[in-house]
Amino acid sequence: MSHSTLPGQPFIAYQNAELCMEDVPLADLVQQHGTPLFAYSKAGMLSALAAYQRGFAGRQVQICYAMKANSSLGVIQVFAQAGCGFDVVSLGEMTRVLAAGGQPERIIFSGVGKTRAEMRAALQAGIGCFNVESEAELDVLNQVALDMGLRAPVSIRVNPNVDPQTHPYISTGLKGNKFGIAHERVVHTYQRAAALPGLQVLGIDCHIGSQITQASPYLDAMDRMLDLVQAIEAAGVPIAHIDLGGGLGIDYHGETPPAADQLWAQLLAKLDARGFGQRHLMIEPGRSLVGNAGVCLTEVLYLKPGEQKNFMVVDAAMNDLPRPAMYQAYHQIVPLRQRPEPTQSWEVVGPICESGDWIGHDRALNAQPGDHLAVLSAGAYCMSMSSNYNTRNRAAEVLIDGKRAQVIRERESYTDQMRLEHLLDAS
Ligand code: LLP
Repeated sequence: MSHSTLPGQPFIAYQNAELCMEDVPLADLVQQHGTPLFAYSKAGMLSALAAYQRGFAGRQVQICYAMKANSSLGVIQVFAQAGCGFDVVSLGEMTRVLAAGGQPERIIFSGVGKTRAEMRAALQAGIGCFNVESEAELDVLNQVALDMGLRAPVSIRVNPNVDPQTHPYISTGLKGNKFGIAHERVVHTYQRAAALPGLQVLGIDCHIGSQITQASPYLDAMDRMLDLVQAIEAAGVPIAHIDLGGGLGIDYHGETPPAADQLWAQLLAKLDARGFGQRHLMIEPGRSLVGNAGVCLTEVLYLKPGEQKNFMVVDAAMNDLPRPAMYQAYHQIVPLRQRPEPTQSWEVVGPICESGDWIGHDRALNAQPGDHLAVLSAGAYCMSMSSNYNTRNRAAEVLIDGKRAQVIRERESYTDQMRLEHLLDAS
């Protein structure tokens, strides 16, 4: 039997020319559940998590899965069962974690625009920490907590002003970004926070950006964080934990990010050298835990060869896979059944009425209408960013564990989409 894995995709391989995820032929899933369809490998998620766990062995660390990357209940459950905490950015995300059996005390709540209602609900649930992003938010949280007779556990997000060398829309730790407290105001902000009776200062956090494929921005950010911790503690405010924000980038198309355990060996060496080796640590990885564990399966609808370009129209679109349209992102596209070498190159596009609805430019593919393709590295920031644009139903999702494939989200129906709408009253 022939077996060939795809670069960067250890849980997806061709077995006898059929693309399989773990032990499940993806064509079987398409036949049973239709397209577009997301499939996720449980082993893929757990092995990504294991790389972080190996890196932290013997240290006090809480890994909080940044569930904005993929917030489906079945995915959250996998990480909750593996002992992860969660980084949430809305009451909706917190509600999902609790519904999936996650523990409230392992939730951290990030984001620049938490409402009073969100703060109240999170305090009521007993979450572990609020990552506060502005001085104004500190005052509001203090008031909300005092009104409830509680003290809110807080960490302050600082802006380390480090260039993560990634797409501008997903770089978050530079001076011009909306996130975090500017470097020069940090000590003052901690002193203010420590004086507010409704707050309990626990930690410090930052997040410099996403899809970072080098170690150096993390090492720079850690150095600046440690400088700040020293300055804050010298001003009399103890810092119990250091949270370095999101995780590593992934291999979409030949990128070579460091492995999580290798990066953390370097970061821990820095912490040790500066005397912070025993500090409680936190990280909030999203993309790297789920990105390469997922694929989006789609059917080829039409071929439109043309003078300038050849178009391959598929049934997945920018509402299912928004990353190419939003960030010019590259996702590999491969056939579910291996065919002879392609002789033509295609613009792979979806059915939505916008020229921005493309999934891949200039892809060598040999496929006919009715054939199926897999869009790879689609586990992160695809389903969680999907929409109903063009009144398209959201895709179904399946979680694969060995030979077993379980539907974790059914395909939406038009009735589901219209459920909360009302026709006008007769006049
Ligand atoms: N923590 C915070 C505060 C964040 O803002 C983010 C991501 C993360 C953690 C997780 O970062 P990760 O480990 O996934 O790099 N939609 C974009 C990515 C937006 C990332 C926003 N923040 C994309 O599809 O590339």
